[in-house]
Amino acid sequence: MVFVTGKGGTGKTTVAAALALLAARAGKRVLAVDVEAKGDLAAALGGGAVRFTPQALQRGIYAIALQAEESFQEYLGLYFKVPRLARMTPLARVFDFIATGVPGPRDMLVVGKIAYEERRRDKSGRPAWDIIIVDAASSGHVVSHLAAARAMLTLVRGGVIHSQVEWIDELVRDDSRSTVLLTALPEEMPVVEAIELGARLRSEAGISVSGCVLNRMVLVSVSPSQRRLAAALNRDSDAEEVRHRLGGDPAPFVESVQLASQLHDRSAEYARQLRAGLPAPVVPVPLETASRSGLAMARAVADALAKDGT
Ligand SMILES: Nc1ncnc2c1ncn2[C@@H]1O[C@H](COP(=O)(O)OP(=O)(O)OP(=O)(O)O)[C@@H](O)[C@H]1O
Ligand SMILES: [Mg+2]
Repeated sequence: MVFVTGKGGTGKTTVAAALALLAARAGKRVLAVDVEAKGDLAAALGGGAVRFTPQALQRGIYAIALQAEESFQEYLGLYFKVPRLARMTPLARVFDFIATGVPGPRDMLVVGKIAYEERRRDKSGRPAWDIIIVDAASSGHVVSHLAAARAMLTLVRGGVIHSQVEWIDELVRDDSRSTVLLTALPEEMPVVEAIELGARLRSEAGISVSGCVLNRMVLVSVSPSQRRLAAALNRDSDAEEVRHRLGGDPAPFVESVQLASQLHDRSAEYARQLRAGLPAPVVPVPLETASRSGLAMARAVADALAKDGT
């Protein structure tokens, strides 16, 4: 299980989709899980709406979207052998209240459903999935999802629920079966949040982070001679030949070169900060300048990750 998380808007969905595409390219059977069920992950994998049951989106890639209500019904059915109709009983109404009103057990259902998929076997006893990639909640909420089993164990000391929750806690903290990949941008807050989140996941959920994708990096490096050329153009901006070759005032061209140079240096500086604060590899992914979205964007990021090779 690979949980992809980070500050909002840093590329969790795009990176999760890109990883799913790479795993499928390598011949793996992939389950992609959209925790927040906004539909973004399905769009990034070139599909329409995804539901609670796995649905094929690409060759080798199935996806599910978790919605608390549906997952709770399945959870009841699985563990307590309660048929769906029994939700109308007073007992089920009590559970319903727990599922929708109190944060802890509800978080438990999210991680519980993913853990159940990890343990699922086909008829021949083979795991249903080779890899599960989770487009997880952002920094604010992911720790409570991943620490939900551990939190519940402190509340429930014995019985069926305790044993159901215990294996989930063990699975999430087993770093041969479960890992977290962070996403960040070369900006102040996403870098600070990634470092803090890495530390919180370790201390509060007992989970170590395997890496951080530093997304939307400006990797184009302007060479010293290109900088000199830009400066010379600026000086000669009134020269007839310069204006002729650039089709007018050279200022936009000169400023673009300066801007690219500044953004490159800033990206490199944030990469240094992130590497210094996070005890895990940092993998840069370039800012895609071509206007792409959905599957085309996920494919571009997958290619960048494949090229990096980390
Ligand atoms: N390398 C990239 N270059 C340019 N744009 C990118 C890149 N990666 C992602 N994007 C774009 O940035 C936006 C945010 O990405 P994405 O939706 O994957 O982030 P998110 O962390 O899942 O956001 P949210 O917190 O809203 O779920 C999207 O429009 C996406 O297409
Ligand atoms: Mg998203």
